[in-house]
Amino acid sequence: MTKAPLGILISGRGSNMARLIEAARADDCPYEVVLVASNNPEAAGLATARNAGIATFAHSHKGLPRAEFDMIMDGALRDAGVRYIALAGYMRILSDAFVTGWTGRMLNIHPSLLPLYKGLDTHGRAITAGDAEGGCSVHLVTPELDDGRVIAQARVPILPGDTADSLAARVLVEEHRLYPEALAAYIRDHG
Ligand code: GRF
Repeated sequence: MTKAPLGILISGRGSNMARLIEAARADDCPYEVVLVASNNPEAAGLATARNAGIATFAHSHKGLPRAEFDMIMDGALRDAGVRYIALAGYMRILSDAFVTGWTGRMLNIHPSLLPLYKGLDTHGRAITAGDAEGGCSVHLVTPELDDGRVIAQARVPILPGDTADSLAARVLVEEHRLYPEALAAYIRDHG
């Protein structure tokens, strides 16, 4: 089976990235990770990627206009032959030009039950609102933040005494299961 070349964008610890790398090792997984890119050269996930033998692009966005940085990263992704992009804790808003260049081929995982709680502090906002459930969503990336079509979700209960951290930990377990599965299903459907 020919696997679709996948690029992963991270800014931090990269636990979802690690799960995607692990899942890609299976013979029947429809993607292979060919590049991990980060706007933060200190991102802990970069070392994880390198230890797994994956090429990395690690450049700070600081001092560069957003569109310029994004086009440099875009060039690295295209040079690596990337067909699909997975955002995995990429904490910088992408320029419209970058996003539209990957329409239908870039996915993100967001730690809320979209369309609830786009943006930051999703778990704290769910607790404050008195929600009974939290969760995570895998969605297509469009120029509007956290707004593209949702392709998969997982739910967890919000328990009495939960803090943003305890809820985040419960949701993260589901993220690690959901993202590799949802990405594989999407790529199988879209080639
Ligand atoms: C995850 O909760 C993800 O949903 C959000 O940022 C966090 C990244 O965590 N977008 P990690 O870097 O994958 O460990």
